[in-house]
Amino acid sequence: MRMYDIIEKKRDGFELTSEEIEFFINEYCKNSIPDYQAAALLMAIFLKGMNERETAQLTDAMAHSGDMIDLSEIPGIKVDKHSTGGVGDKTTLILGPIVAACGIPVAKMSGRGLGHTGGTIDKLEAIPGFNTSISRENFIQNVKEIGIAIAGQTGNLAPADKKIYALRDVTATVNNISLIASSIMSKKLASGADRIVLDVKTGSGAFMKNLEDSVKLAQAMVKIGENTGRHTVAIVTEMDIPLGKAVGNSLEIIEAVETLKNRGPQDLSEVSFVLAARMLELSGKGTYEECRKLVREAVESGRALSKFAELIEKQGGNKGIVGDYSLFPQVKHTFEYKAEASGYISTMKTDTIGVASLELGAGRETKESTIDYAAGIYFNKKTGDKVEKGEVLATLYTNKEEKISQACGLLQQAVRISDGSPVKKPLILAYIDSKGIEMA
Ligand code: URA
Repeated sequence: MRMYDIIEKKRDGFELTSEEIEFFINEYCKNSIPDYQAAALLMAIFLKGMNERETAQLTDAMAHSGDMIDLSEIPGIKVDKHSTGGVGDKTTLILGPIVAACGIPVAKMSGRGLGHTGGTIDKLEAIPGFNTSISRENFIQNVKEIGIAIAGQTGNLAPADKKIYALRDVTATVNNISLIASSIMSKKLASGADRIVLDVKTGSGAFMKNLEDSVKLAQAMVKIGENTGRHTVAIVTEMDIPLGKAVGNSLEIIEAVETLKNRGPQDLSEVSFVLAARMLELSGKGTYEECRKLVREAVESGRALSKFAELIEKQGGNKGIVGDYSLFPQVKHTFEYKAEASGYISTMKTDTIGVASLELGAGRETKESTIDYAAGIYFNKKTGDKVEKGEVLATLYTNKEEKISQACGLLQQAVRISDGSPVKKPLILAYIDSKGIEMA
């Protein structure tokens, strides 16, 4: 088989066989295909597309390029959740303990963040003492003992995706639905879950900026899941506004704890509880409505909060943080960002808000940057809220005093105040499963 022929075939719009897809993945991982040929094929795929079968086979080949995590030692159905990411997205910290408190094992491998705030792993590391680098054996043992473990990705998970993603990043071939869907799902398949719930974010703070593309991405990922034997459903959720009020690592942990105490912001609670209920439904705990009830009971009884405290303690963290937020490291500087006019908040450019929190120290600019866990932004007001001139819209937290004016400048660009109140958009915009799409 020759790479030249595979490139030519896709360039001319033909379907690739599974042998050709596997040849590309295997040989590229062994460095026997040069980057220029791999880039040419990726561009051909970008321009000519891949059908459902090709996309599933590309996903499967990338998943099998490294370790396939075996969770079979853990009894029961293992359901994973994946979010395509957004500003203030801390749902894993809420739904993980809820699902575990309902008796479904949560064996969650999460990533670090590059950008506005950390990923789930960075957020957990904001808890004093919390260890996210536990061994594979401890990870499995913890899930067996307390029903939940959340750890950083270890070992060699989907190395083909890592190599191909780096190449796509520099050859303008990231933004293709088949390539994005196979990239995300290859890591999910390698992580060992039996069933998958996807949260595809849409809007200015998301990877996918419009609803149509977000639904297409969700459909492509659901199809891959079903074609590779992992029952998968997706919801598409709003990311034209930060999720919750807190952006920044320890601020987000506190907000997650508040949500587990049933006094979190409405939008964050709703998205987290919907995702948790979908996970329970996929695990066979009942109908969606029955699972919503189980979620409510787990939160209202305090069992979900206790499960979070148990998780923290098991992974070496100070579980006292659930009752005493002063145990988190504190910032040296806070600043109140005030409304410049009276009216209603009409838009919040969420990606710009992400950049403001990054400037304050909450995120990573490069892989090597260190995160300031205490830095971030807490919003008192969000899109749709009425504000008076001079009212505090947000509090900025930082150890870098010199960054405050820059962050305020970004907030000025991001938050628009208008005379009329904006039309309220639904939070959950679509539900997608193997049977089809339900739009809100
Ligand atoms: N996230 C991924 O993991 N892969 C993509 O291609 C895009 C976003």
